[in-house]
Amino acid sequence: LTPASLEIKRIIARMNIPADVSCPKCMTAESARYVEVHGHCEHCEKKAQKEAAQMENLAALWHNSRLPSAAKGLRFDHMDPERTDPTAIQDCREWEYGPRGLYLWGATGVGKTRLSQCLARREIVNYTRRVLFLGLPQLFADLKESFRTGSPEPRRLLSAARDVPLLVLDDIGVGHSPEFGESEILPIVTARLDEGLATIYTSNLSWSRKNVVQGFGTLEEKLGARVAQRVVHSATAIQVTGQANWLIK
Ligand SMILES: Nc1ncnc2c1ncn2[C@@H]1O[C@H](COP(=O)(O)OP(=O)(O)OP(=O)(O)O)[C@@H](O)[C@H]1O
Ligand SMILES: [Mg+2]
Ligand SMILES: [Zn+2]
Repeated sequence: LTPASLEIKRIIARMNIPADVSCPKCMTAESARYVEVHGHCEHCEKKAQKEAAQMENLAALWHNSRLPSAAKGLRFDHMDPERTDPTAIQDCREWEYGPRGLYLWGATGVGKTRLSQCLARREIVNYTRRVLFLGLPQLFADLKESFRTGSPEPRRLLSAARDVPLLVLDDIGVGHSPEFGESEILPIVTARLDEGLATIYTSNLSWSRKNVVQGFGTLEEKLGARVAQRVVHSATAIQVTGQANWLIK
């Protein structure tokens, strides 16, 4: 030790600084004062702050996604394979984010919406991706209502749908008019195709004429060729079969 550093040591000793204590969380040495104030060491404090910021970010992503709160803890292993065809569950599990989304189609009550919510939740939780979940029949009704009330919300959602990284369009083609498809859905799907943004659709409308869900038509019949063609280009079809909810006692 140089005489200067010896002198510094002596000064510090005279200041009567309390000895370091070990952090109760990670056991590394930290100044007693710091541990008294924060309850743990500086390293643990930085970690805690980072975690808090991540939680805040997740909460905002969740809120903005408009996913129902029931979907918050929804994972693929909460898909009962007795109720939804396991192949469809597996195909959804294997989907990876990219320009080609998914078109989940099949009869009512077989778990299409539930699957789309599993997918959306996974993107938020695992990849902190921005997601927007839109139930189209409701949005259509809200938009009609807004002409009377002047509410800007439906328009805001339709505009957000153009550039959100992952969009879920729940129940496309049923419960809303073909005109709504042409005037509102078409520009969204077109913009997303151009930007390579993923869209997940659920529908009762079948992908092809060969295999039509009883009581429902095809995508093309209900939405017109222009919308149908773009939907087909933007997604891979997964036919979802299973046992509808109301059949189970
Ligand atoms: N595999 C499953 N495991 C557990 N619950 C399921 C499963 N499939 C569906 N359900 C439940 O059954 C109900 C209907 O499912 P869901 O809404 O996903 O059907 P859907 O295929 O979207 O029907 P629709 O065509 O009428 O929109 C929901 O409450 C859903 O959570
Ligand atoms: Mg549904
Ligand atoms: Zn620590």
